[in-house]
Amino acid sequence: MNDLTTRTGLPEHLRVLAELYPRTGWESHGNFNDLTRFWLDRHLMFRDVIAKLQTETMGFLDQPTDRYGAILQRYTGFFLNQLHSHHGIEDQHYFPALIALDARIAPGFELLDGDHKALDGHINGLAERTNAVLAALNQGQAAKTEADALLTAQQAFERFLNRHLSDEEELVVPLILEYGPPDL
Ligand SMILES: [Fe+2]
Ligand SMILES: [Fe+2]
Repeated sequence: MNDLTTRTGLPEHLRVLAELYPRTGWESHGNFNDLTRFWLDRHLMFRDVIAKLQTETMGFLDQPTDRYGAILQRYTGFFLNQLHSHHGIEDQHYFPALIALDARIAPGFELLDGDHKALDGHINGLAERTNAVLAALNQGQAAKTEADALLTAQQAFERFLNRHLSDEEELVVPLILEYGPPDL
């Protein structure tokens, strides 16, 4: 039920604060601060980049261009590096400061930690699929099969990432609104 690949949302017992603070009221709440906005903006950026990567791959499959390889390399490298360091900051700084705020929500941080470990595997998978496309292109091949497989991986990655980001936001932001932003 808590598995990132099959989960459909936060389990009910972790939604006690999420029910009190629906997403539509987050930004207007007095405890919503700049760091929370910055953090949500990072999530938006990850959503944008994984969407752009799929658009680029679909465009290449439709109509191959010379520019695809360079764009794929640049954006995927940026995306995976930034995502990896984002998880590191959450694991080392954000989550330890948040976990003690509410014992009812604390088990949710184990769930998020499990997501980060699962996403590490998907990060490696996406890097491998990307490298297979780049290697084929570098050898002057059409890279159609590789790009097809990459698109499937990008689509799956987007699903897992969106699940993680949405659940993480619904766990963390209500905590901040209820108890105030922690000292980081
Ligand atoms: Fe996360
Ligand atoms: Fe995050």
